[in-house]
Amino acid sequence: MAAQVEIYEGALDRGLEGVVACSTGISSIQDATLSYRGYTIEDLAAKSTFEEVVFLLWNDRLPTADELTALKKELGAQMTLDPEFVKALKTLPTNVHPMAWLRTATSLLAHFDKEAQDMSEEANHRKAVRLTAKMTTLVTAFDRIRNGKELVAPKADKSVAYNFFWTLTGKEPDAEIVKDFDTCLVLHADHELNCSAFAARVTASSLSDMHSAVVSAISALKGPLHGGANEQVIRMLQSIGSIESCKTWIARALDNKEKVMGIGHRVYKNGDPRAKVLRAMSERLTKKIGEAHWYTMSTMIDDIMREKKDLLPNVDFYSATVYYSMGIPTDLFTPIFAASRVSGWLAHMLEQWKNNRIYRPRGKWVGKSLQKLNR
Ligand code: COA
Repeated sequence: MAAQVEIYEGALDRGLEGVVACSTGISSIQDATLSYRGYTIEDLAAKSTFEEVVFLLWNDRLPTADELTALKKELGAQMTLDPEFVKALKTLPTNVHPMAWLRTATSLLAHFDKEAQDMSEEANHRKAVRLTAKMTTLVTAFDRIRNGKELVAPKADKSVAYNFFWTLTGKEPDAEIVKDFDTCLVLHADHELNCSAFAARVTASSLSDMHSAVVSAISALKGPLHGGANEQVIRMLQSIGSIESCKTWIARALDNKEKVMGIGHRVYKNGDPRAKVLRAMSERLTKKIGEAHWYTMSTMIDDIMREKKDLLPNVDFYSATVYYSMGIPTDLFTPIFAASRVSGWLAHMLEQWKNNRIYRPRGKWVGKSLQKLNR
């Protein structure tokens, strides 16, 4: 007799809403408070750097000054892409969405990593550093390759945030923009059991390797209901076009039962704390480039959605105008999310492997009853 399957009906076919799928000590969402390893996102956004957060996520504590220097050095050394790998990368078609390219490029990266199949703790640490360091360079490499430009060598003594702009443009980036971008990386680094982290953990639970689990996560992040929303937000604003058109555009979208991108969240019902930090940044940066109307339009949509649907902005809503103001190409918005979130995915894998059991849930049978094959 097959074991009876106990089913939490509330979550069934509802995207596992409310289901606790594993224990985790990486990041926590309590009402409108997000914390990484016990530090609130507001504190980390104001007072830490992406590299510190990477250490925090992987080690359950902040680094000492020496540890931080060592991690920065390791990341800096690993940002450069191997010339043979670049040769192979250049054979990939670039007439696809950058997330599709990034997914394939990450998979290809495994073929050039001698430790790809080594599951020892030491090798996994080294791979985590390599994957985190190279994800940013991959994103900018895509943009340069598709535009027929030579790749720019990363500067080993500079941060991930600095190198994003440096390897994208080959120009010295504005220090204030680098600082703001670093804050964006901090804000996106982890988010409890989101869709892509869960995908990473599920793949890791079969004792598959790190690169494979990152590929699973990138694939999940790619969708418009997850990381893909930030790109859709700026496209929506551009399609609305003006402050005057906001009200009617949103009313029509709601009448047509369309989702307004960057709005709503499965877990936060009283607001996403990351959106608050990004809203202030969006106001400042859109003003700085002389295009404050994008911020004004965003706040109008924000107000309408609160009033009409009781829905609040999520991390993707204001990050769209932030990245736009930084001059980043629109289709790189979601890959940037991956460049930060990879640190969280890796933390989830390391946590999963510390107490692993393969994920293997059950399905409630709603199909046909047993039939005879009459032949
Ligand atoms: N615009 C319009 N209506 C929305 C909405 C949005 N962005 N988000 C949710 N709703 C509505 C749904 O239509 C639904 O209404 P109904 O009960 O009348 O049918 C209700 O709110 C619940 O939405 P649901 O899709 O079931 O919520 P969820 O928990 O499954 O989804 C999201 C959460 C984030 C996927 C969803 O809010 C969404 O699609 N947002 C836009 C995409 C986005 O920004 N994603 C990034 C997430 S960080």
